[in-house]
Amino acid sequence: MNITYTPDGGEFHLSNGIISYIFRIYENGYAGSLYFGKALSPARSYRHLGPREFRGFSHSPGDFTRFEYPSTGNGDFRIPAITVVHADGSSVIDPVYREHRIYSGKKPIPGLPATYVESDAEADTLEVDLVDAPSGIVITLFYSIFRDYPVIARHVCVTNSGITSGSAVYACETLTCAMSASLDLPDQVWELIELTGAWGREFQEERRPLRHGAQGVASVRGVSGSQQNPFIALARPGCDERTGEAIGFSLVYSGNFRAECEADSFGMTRVRMGINPAGFSWNLGSGESFETPEAVIAWSLSGLGGLSDAYHGLYRTRLARGFWRDRDRPVLINNWEGTYFDFNEDRLLSIARTAKDFGVELFVLDDGWFGKRNDDTSSLGDWAANTAKLPDGIDGLARKVESLGMKFGLWFEPEMISRESELFAAHPDWAVGVPGRTRTEARHQYVLDFTRAEIVDHIFAAISDILKKGPVSYVKWDMNRNITEPYSASLSADRQGEFFHRYMLGVYLLFERLTSAFPEILFESCSSGGARFDPGMLFYAPQGWLSDDSDAVERLRIQWGASLCYPPSSMGAHVSASPNHQVGRVTPIDTRAAVAFFGAFGYELDPARLSQSELEAVKIQIVFFKQHRTLFRTGRFIRLVNPYEGTDASWMIVCPDRSRAIVAFYRVLAKPFPVATRVKLAGLDAGVNYRITTWPERTPTGTTGSSGSTVAVESVVRGGDELMYSGLRVLDSAFFEPQTGDFWAKLFILDMITS
Ligand code: DGJ
Repeated sequence: MNITYTPDGGEFHLSNGIISYIFRIYENGYAGSLYFGKALSPARSYRHLGPREFRGFSHSPGDFTRFEYPSTGNGDFRIPAITVVHADGSSVIDPVYREHRIYSGKKPIPGLPATYVESDAEADTLEVDLVDAPSGIVITLFYSIFRDYPVIARHVCVTNSGITSGSAVYACETLTCAMSASLDLPDQVWELIELTGAWGREFQEERRPLRHGAQGVASVRGVSGSQQNPFIALARPGCDERTGEAIGFSLVYSGNFRAECEADSFGMTRVRMGINPAGFSWNLGSGESFETPEAVIAWSLSGLGGLSDAYHGLYRTRLARGFWRDRDRPVLINNWEGTYFDFNEDRLLSIARTAKDFGVELFVLDDGWFGKRNDDTSSLGDWAANTAKLPDGIDGLARKVESLGMKFGLWFEPEMISRESELFAAHPDWAVGVPGRTRTEARHQYVLDFTRAEIVDHIFAAISDILKKGPVSYVKWDMNRNITEPYSASLSADRQGEFFHRYMLGVYLLFERLTSAFPEILFESCSSGGARFDPGMLFYAPQGWLSDDSDAVERLRIQWGASLCYPPSSMGAHVSASPNHQVGRVTPIDTRAAVAFFGAFGYELDPARLSQSELEAVKIQIVFFKQHRTLFRTGRFIRLVNPYEGTDASWMIVCPDRSRAIVAFYRVLAKPFPVATRVKLAGLDAGVNYRITTWPERTPTGTTGSSGSTVAVESVVRGGDELMYSGLRVLDSAFFEPQTGDFWAKLFILDMITS
């Protein structure tokens, strides 16, 4: 891996042997891209890939040029990466190269989540300073190339240096757009993939050809949102899971964002990603800087699967952090769908006791344990136990749960305040809102103004008090509404455009303080399910609740879509009751488990309502999961049969040395007289044999085995080559008796035969 600079021609070449990212500084100082894709020889010049010379913008030659960080008012009329308003009201910004630095390693971004390295050998970084001389604005472009991934991480720092070339001295500059990255591509033969949806149906994969003009995804909700995730991919037509070129763009941020492509009139495509300029502005006093979040750009020639491999590896090991990053997560039971608000200590302990009997390791108490909260109308902000429900408080309950031999976890919604709360009575001004306007309530609650340090301090102290007292091993951090009436009393009128980003900085600060103070607590992020399931959250919480929809069939699509960018280890996935509470569907309990295994696994139900045979099944599920959980967490996840394209679905997970894999096949709707179904596997060793067993295992009489092990009725040996190139016959009676009915699932466990 290295970054080279050729002064003759001003060419930068970042390469790690997998990818090359090349751009140059033109004679007039503009930074313009030349190439991004499969690695090219670093020994050659590629300046001929751009215009021969770049003279100026008369008659808009800018239309034909590809920029590294496009600006406005200078003849480039496409979507910009940066816009400003100078003190005199003008808005031209025309940055040119001044200097650069190349070094090993990668620096953190102050106050913001970002990918990181554990040794300088893992990445090289290039910083390029561009200067708009008349205003004194310095734009530092950061590029880090990773040794082990086809990935470039980019972000930008904009500084008002206070040193101008002309007579004007701009004591204050106003940034109105500062994207994390902009990438100009030399053609338009792309399809745009996005993850769209709504509450309960997040991460729906959509794909459409690029059209002329601007198109993309965005949020102005104050959270990244369940409607559109801060991830897009460009894929060549015909690019599938395993072949073809694709580029992924992922933003390490949890607030308002925009990811946008513009296919221009001259055959090129510009992609920009960063904080949403809508509603954003930032005042830069002389000497002040603004750091953007990080955009992570991945490239693949092995289809969408190649993109996922890159993101999964990087995000699981170099974005997620802390004690739990490399540890198997406990199997948990969460009481939310089991009890909602209707519980007392006895009921909780009875759930915990039964769960412990069938092997659950962590009991999580969800919403409703504090203040006077018996429904969602009150008490957010009053983080003290409701002793009518929990006479011995949280610490008392936590100790009782621990005495059963389980760990204890607790739900908070740190950023919220109920109108009906002691906190609101004491500090009505702490809720976000514009003086003189009615605050919009959502789920009967307001949002705390996390731009204010004293409010973050207060919530830190309140949560810390509870975590310090009781043996709490896990925290679920929820966030159940979008932000309306954005305004902070702490910001002057000309700084209100900073509100949303400052809010996110407050959230990240609280996360940083809590995770530092309680390093061994496992944090799970949540926002009504997946409304803030993004790389920013992953930096603080190694897992997030992916969706409030726990139906196994819905989850196939949700987990499939999310897996484009996010590793299974990050996706909270629970077995819940049937009929399912979100869609009313009745599915076998083993199908629900066979989907949830491919995530941070747990249960979300009242075990008292399970039948004896379901309880037995749960015991077996947990034995099976514990046996394979390291593989589920760390294996290479490969998508096989797309649930968006039919009524079957399939995916698999392979351990790094390919000695074991687990393949899941889901038949959502039964078919009459089914034809043989073969699923072509991937990622195996073609030159060895694999012994195949199945789960859930059935004895020859058709009853469920009780050991939880995977001893096959008839064990089968197949070559890795056959399984990949001819396929696994998933309906083969060698594996199990023919299945009928809807919603069944089968797991195939493949073990390499070594002798
Ligand atoms: C929304 C979350 O997604 C649920 O899992 C649950 O924690 C509720 N909030 C509690 O109010």
